[in-house]
Amino acid sequence: MSQIVNISDLTSHIGSTVTLRGWVSNKREGKGIAFIILRDGTGFCQCVVTEEFSNLENLQNAQNTSLETSITIEGEIRADEKQLGGVEVQVKSIEIVGESVDYPISKKEHGVEFLMDQRHLWLRSTRQWAIMRIRNTIIFSIHKYFQEEEFVQMDAPIFTGNACEGTSTLFETDFYGAPAYLSQSGQLYGEAMAMAMGKIYTFGPTFRAEKSKTRRHLSEFWMIEPEMAFYDIFMNMDTIEGMLQRVIRDVLDNCQVELKTIGRDTSVLESSLKSFPRMTYDEAVKIIKGEKEVNGIRSIDMLEEELKNTQAKLQEINSEIEDKESQIALGGLKKGQINFFTNKINQLKQERSDVEEDLRNIPQWLDSARNFEYGNDFGGSDESVLTKLFDSPVMVYDWPHEVKAFYLKRNPEDSRFARGVDVLAPEGYGEIVGGGERETDINLLIEKIHEHELPMSAFEWYLDLRKYGSVPHSGFGLGLERVVTWICKLKHVRESIPFPRMYGRLTP
Ligand code: 4AD
Ligand code: MG
Repeated sequence: MSQIVNISDLTSHIGSTVTLRGWVSNKREGKGIAFIILRDGTGFCQCVVTEEFSNLENLQNAQNTSLETSITIEGEIRADEKQLGGVEVQVKSIEIVGESVDYPISKKEHGVEFLMDQRHLWLRSTRQWAIMRIRNTIIFSIHKYFQEEEFVQMDAPIFTGNACEGTSTLFETDFYGAPAYLSQSGQLYGEAMAMAMGKIYTFGPTFRAEKSKTRRHLSEFWMIEPEMAFYDIFMNMDTIEGMLQRVIRDVLDNCQVELKTIGRDTSVLESSLKSFPRMTYDEAVKIIKGEKEVNGIRSIDMLEEELKNTQAKLQEINSEIEDKESQIALGGLKKGQINFFTNKINQLKQERSDVEEDLRNIPQWLDSARNFEYGNDFGGSDESVLTKLFDSPVMVYDWPHEVKAFYLKRNPEDSRFARGVDVLAPEGYGEIVGGGERETDINLLIEKIHEHELPMSAFEWYLDLRKYGSVPHSGFGLGLERVVTWICKLKHVRESIPFPRMYGRLTP
């Protein structure tokens, strides 16, 4: 047997004969020829089987293999610029490792609920493969950033006795007969550890009971929470920006094939490598309401323009669908042409449902822009309006203290505001990071704990941190799945994690 290699390494084996091991991801046949798209986890490549180069038995085996059969292939690697990986394999021999009968996911369009039910298999598909590889690059990049900046990684507990982010989303569980909660955030423990280590970060699962279906909320998600002693809110923002730009750069440098596979237009990722605009809540509200322009553009004008363009786009798609359908109805087309038109129609219908969704959303965005009430927290719509005006994430800080968490520091110059910062991703994605400077005044903290109706006894240890050598400190929480969703430009957060847990979904 020749040398076993990974598909991702094939370009360095051009001209030689190697062994590949993987699964049949796709297959096409013609007269005397079969094309197998082989995947091995590291990549995908086209393998060509002919009788001349191999033999009749191998050709027939190739023609008979079904989707997701596991196989070993020996073949010669040839350069081919038309292929995504830049190579093609001329097959000499094929051996079947494991049969695959009636694989449930076919090339035809499946509904998302069906695919979610088949998540354990769906992960094998090209697009899901690419997303998971990008997720992996992001995770590695985050660790590299913090380790290189000399942060100490810490693991916060999952069973907790306190609510960090409000009581409405707590998952209660039984801890030896006493109530306990699944952690919503490791932050409070991170603060304790930062007083021991200086700079720390957590990287762990967090849980929130979000009792509705949205495209941004999971019940179980992974959060990265750094906490830094002697950092104020501005140093905190520098760290957020440094970390996110490191992540974006690593994805751009290492995931070109994956980004192409999912069809990600990377221009916004590239423009996010310049510094992120920073603005106070006050300024952000003015921008949302159209009282302040961004690069000469007012929110309301932008949205009205978008509404007009989207309506025109809908008309265009509708007439194109009609046109294709009438061509099929006229008859006289070859089977291949009918398939071509049918595929095109399905694609157009998908586009149409996106456009229709925009048409439902834009009036809500306009409503945000026209009627946002100063003092409120931002909802998804408000975030969309704001971020549509920028081509990179934006940071909004100094929020009305009433709408933010109990632990945020009051702005010493204006006590109406708490020193929280939210980072909102562009292209309509909204919040990916929430953080801020922490309150150091123990009396203000106690007041806030009462105001939020939290049980004081669960916070005694936390208050100790303000009694014994309290220092200014800051931190933030990055929602991993939110970042993956934005970087991959996914429609829904459920595709950003291998096995999503969310309202209405516990299996597989
Ligand atoms: O803004 P949040 O609630 O902040 C905290 O938990 C702080 N304790 C973080 C800190 O300062 N250490 O959550 C932080 C981030 C959000 O910006 C969002 O990206 C993500 O966590 N997030 C969720 N992601 C998916 N599903 C959910 N249900 C999420 N809730 C929050
Ligand atoms: Mg938040």
